[in-house]
Amino acid sequence: MSEAIVLEVRHITRRFGGLYAVDNVSFAVQRGEIFGLIGPNGAGKTTLFNVITGMTPPTHGELFYEGINITNKRPHEIAMLGVARTFQNIRLFGTLTALENVMIARHIHTKSGVLEGVLGLPPAPQEERAVRQRAMELLELVGLAEAAEMQARNFSYGDQRRLEIARALALEPKLLLLDEPAAGMNQNEKSALSAFIRSIREQFNLTIVLIEHYVPLVMGLCDRIAVLNFGQLIALGAPEAVQNDPAVIEAYLGE
Ligand SMILES: Nc1ncnc2c1ncn2[C@@H]1O[C@H](COP(=O)(O)OP(=O)(O)OP(=O)(O)O)[C@@H](O)[C@H]1O
Ligand SMILES: [Mg+2]
Repeated sequence: MSEAIVLEVRHITRRFGGLYAVDNVSFAVQRGEIFGLIGPNGAGKTTLFNVITGMTPPTHGELFYEGINITNKRPHEIAMLGVARTFQNIRLFGTLTALENVMIARHIHTKSGVLEGVLGLPPAPQEERAVRQRAMELLELVGLAEAAEMQARNFSYGDQRRLEIARALALEPKLLLLDEPAAGMNQNEKSALSAFIRSIREQFNLTIVLIEHYVPLVMGLCDRIAVLNFGQLIALGAPEAVQNDPAVIEAYLGE
């Protein structure tokens, strides 16, 4: 496999009973790319993220990350290899502070480990300090340092989405999967999001796959875009080409 390819999705199908949520989808994501995944509601976008991250096993097909076959790996194994994500339905620990939410993720890279992190067992003090410091840096990066001690459930939607990104970055990913990062954000937050996503790509040398309904964001930000409809890949290419593709226009008009 080419060095330039970070993620390869090969003939992935995921069925739920008779429903083909993802239907024989293949594509490759290049290193450093911001790759958009779009399509009408129910097209299979989130299911594909769930398959890539090991949360939902595929019915058929194979997945390669950095040339490694990850098809049958567990979610934590895939995370350890450098794949992190955010969730369409935000998954934070609501009663924990912003700082604690990021620190828990960070423990995956320390000796004490993620289990102790979740269970709240005390890690070595030195390690704890380093984890706390790094978590604070990440909160600063996403603009939430001043709210570090606030419970996650008290954040606005937009801030919760940024907190999830900070938590994902704490895993030190190479590949970051964002599931509708603009959802619930106000117009100002949406406008700032493109520049923010570009800046984290530079700063962390990331490859990013982004699911998003907000068209201006997708068109302005993504290097290439894949379009799903009823589980099938109906278009793949540069934003302008995809936007003018008759099959894509039809899929959206039929929504
Ligand atoms: N665990 C599940 N069991 C049964 N059906 C499921 C399950 N998860 C998803 N589906 C179905 O698979 C299809 C694809 O859902 P998915 O959530 O992947 O779509 P999506 O493209 O992310 O949509 P949206 O834009 O609304 O988030 C839908 O018809 C959905 O109802
Ligand atoms: Mg979805």
